[in-house]
Amino acid sequence: MKIGAIILAAGKGTRMKSKYPKVLHKILNKPILGYVTDAVKELTEIKPIIVIGHGGEYIKEFFEDTYVYRTQEQQLGTGDAVKAGMDALKDEEAVMILCGDAPMITTEILEKMTDQYINSGAKALVLSAVLEEGKGYGRIIRNSNSDFEKITEEKDTSEEEKLIKEVNSGTYIFDKKLLEEALFGLTNQNSQGEYYLTDVLEILKKQGHVVGVYKSADDKVILGINNRVQLEEATKIIKRRINEKHMMAGVTLEDSASIYISSEVIIGEDVVIGPNVSITGKTIIGEDVAIGPNSIIKDSIIGSGTTILSSIILNSKLGSNCNIGPFAYLRPDNILSDKVKVGDFVELKKTQVGYGSKIPHHSYIGDSIVGEKVNIGAGTITCNYDGEHKYQTIIEDGAFIGSNTNLVAPVNVGKEAYIGAGSTITKDVPNRALAIARGKQVIKENWNSKK
Ligand code: UD1
Ligand code: CA
Repeated sequence: MKIGAIILAAGKGTRMKSKYPKVLHKILNKPILGYVTDAVKELTEIKPIIVIGHGGEYIKEFFEDTYVYRTQEQQLGTGDAVKAGMDALKDEEAVMILCGDAPMITTEILEKMTDQYINSGAKALVLSAVLEEGKGYGRIIRNSNSDFEKITEEKDTSEEEKLIKEVNSGTYIFDKKLLEEALFGLTNQNSQGEYYLTDVLEILKKQGHVVGVYKSADDKVILGINNRVQLEEATKIIKRRINEKHMMAGVTLEDSASIYISSEVIIGEDVVIGPNVSITGKTIIGEDVAIGPNSIIKDSIIGSGTTILSSIILNSKLGSNCNIGPFAYLRPDNILSDKVKVGDFVELKKTQVGYGSKIPHHSYIGDSIVGEKVNIGAGTITCNYDGEHKYQTIIEDGAFIGSNTNLVAPVNVGKEAYIGAGSTITKDVPNRALAIARGKQVIKENWNSKK
């Protein structure tokens, strides 16, 4: 069965107290809406339709053409919002409706809903859960046979109905044609003067169609975010979910509560991660990697057996058995081969480092190609920028750069060449040569006693 998806995200999210739309607020570096669309992505190849309104231009700017967008001009209710999205559907037979602000929904739940929808012959299916405190949610009203009858919004419930603990999640699957027809029949004769999507279920039921409920055993999957307190609560739950998945797969997290791993990150077996570590973006970490406290790793690939201690690594690729930090800063676009050492207070940018090379202390190496088994002494700096352009430094295999060298780019240090400590190198150094470029030492005997 071909199933499309419409995700509602036109609401203002007033309680977030923000100039940005609610669904763009982030949980572990990913917008709330991204969690909803990711859950859908596994189920259908059809691009989800996002109904936007308030701050819609920010949503489009962020997600670009990952999705199809439809604009709801005025926020007249969830029924009206779905109506705005319907014309973007094509030949789908059924459509899933989700709330853009409920990021706990999982592919697993949507899969089970789809199975029930298909197998029961239902024309509408709603996801419910039992909440001890159901305030604000629509209640699922069942008849004496406990079959679905209707959904009543909190503001329209009687005192008796308020006691019902089974609530509407705002996630549904509908037969597309029947939904379309029913949407045109909706009225806004209710306490909020809104067009309620929930009324569609009652309409279909009254028409004699099967309307089912998928009751989730896990009540967390339906939680929506309305304010920043709920945003933090959701972050905790999602973080725990992700961290548990990694721990069960063989990763040691020394202090799960302080470790932030975003959902796309892949981590190999026997990796040990210390406290206050953040790993986000499209990061892949091999086996037996040790990541010490306070490290930040984003969009990077880390080879097996590498050790990282209190360092920042952005958009870089590291080989296996490297030794990074403490306090190294790898800015974007570095490629390190195996067994590379990047030590304390070293900054790298757009630099390739060959097998077994060492940059142990206090250096800035940018726009450079460093060969194999190169040793770069403490305090070496590539002077890669003349105020207008950036230039490249090449250091070939086996070269030895003495401490406190300035390499004024563009410059090339040949194979197995040596540079004397404290040199400012402005000309290429041939293979195996020794370059010394510093003021000669002068000794003035007994100079102090003359004073
Ligand atoms: C809705 C349901 C309620 C359910 C709750 C779950 C209706 C009438 N009620 O409540 O039964 O328990 O969700 O969270 O559907 N939106 C638009 N345009 C609008 C109105 C809303 O795009 O005109 C979007 C919002 O951005 C949000 C979603 O629809 O993503 C739900 O809207 P919200 O106002 O939070 O839901 P309620 O009406 O409170
Ligand atoms: Ca509302």
